[in-house]
Amino acid sequence: MRRALHRAPMSAFDYTAESGAPELRETLAAYLARSRGVVADPERILVCAGFSHAMAILARVLHARGADEIAFENPSLHIYRDIAARNGPRVVGVPVDDHGITVSSLDSPAVVVTPAHQYPLGVTLAPGRRAELTRWAEETGAVVIEDDYDGEFRFDHQQVGALQALAPERVVYVGTTSKTLAPSLRLGWMVLPRFLVESVRVEMAASGARPALLDQLAMAELIESGAYDQHIRRCRAEYRSRRDRLLAALPDSVLPQGISAGLHLVLQFPGDLPGEMEVLAACRRRAIGLEGLSGHWIGEPQREGLIIGYGAAAKHAFGGATQALREAIFEVT
Ligand SMILES: Cc1ncc(COP(=O)(O)O)c(C=O)c1O
Repeated sequence: MRRALHRAPMSAFDYTAESGAPELRETLAAYLARSRGVVADPERILVCAGFSHAMAILARVLHARGADEIAFENPSLHIYRDIAARNGPRVVGVPVDDHGITVSSLDSPAVVVTPAHQYPLGVTLAPGRRAELTRWAEETGAVVIEDDYDGEFRFDHQQVGALQALAPERVVYVGTTSKTLAPSLRLGWMVLPRFLVESVRVEMAASGARPALLDQLAMAELIESGAYDQHIRRCRAEYRSRRDRLLAALPDSVLPQGISAGLHLVLQFPGDLPGEMEVLAACRRRAIGLEGLSGHWIGEPQREGLIIGYGAAAKHAFGGATQALREAIFEVT
């Protein structure tokens, strides 16, 4: 922040461009191309206050362009579905299987997907499905919103690049600093198909909201200096080690899923026994706050399970929390 402030031109303190600081948009274009394979140039990048903000703006723009419905993966996070619904379109759910979203079930003018690491199930959108999804979007003229919320954190395989690279004129790529730095920053970015750039820029201006310019300049500085890459490499190693310790501590009776990426995994119990409520209660008794899968379905819950986020616990508390989780599972199985 100090370095960014020191370098900032006088104009940095004026009313700022609604698309975001040119310095950050240029830096992001290069960063996203190299780190996620995104087809990006500064003209199609808009800086926003994270995925939630992008979702609100995009829902409004797409609704104004005639999209009365938007599809979400089922299960998914209700907060983003609510944001979409509050901004115009009706929300419908599309099933997710072991290969990701079932493209053959899609029949909406827009869809929101988490291809790198489906939230919450943790599956990665399979190569065949990626091709099918972008082909579907190209054939039907639908818009795909790619929520790349934890794409920087892949542990087991080669990096899985952004879906956007397959169809940059049909996919809106959305990135965020919520997993790499901190959710309170409220800083993210959209890489837009060209036909949407102007309407999204106008909607953004009309919303009156934009991230603080100094934060944007500091972010550009962080990336340019190499410190952001270094930070992500360090975090990736730490999260991989946490994931491995967590997996090693789990009893054989549970089925961990979605383990190859991100900051969470899902635990399922064969035959859904014990029930989710029972396991969550045993965890709560040991002061472990977890969420279940049940609350993430659109309509009737279809499967139970535990969503275990391992990113946020303090380093010194992680071992004890893992042990307590193990004990909670033993207690109810
Ligand atoms: C599925 C999913 N999408 C997006 C985000 C990030 O949203 P935001 O950038 O608004 O913090 C999160 C949470 O970090 C998430 O779990």
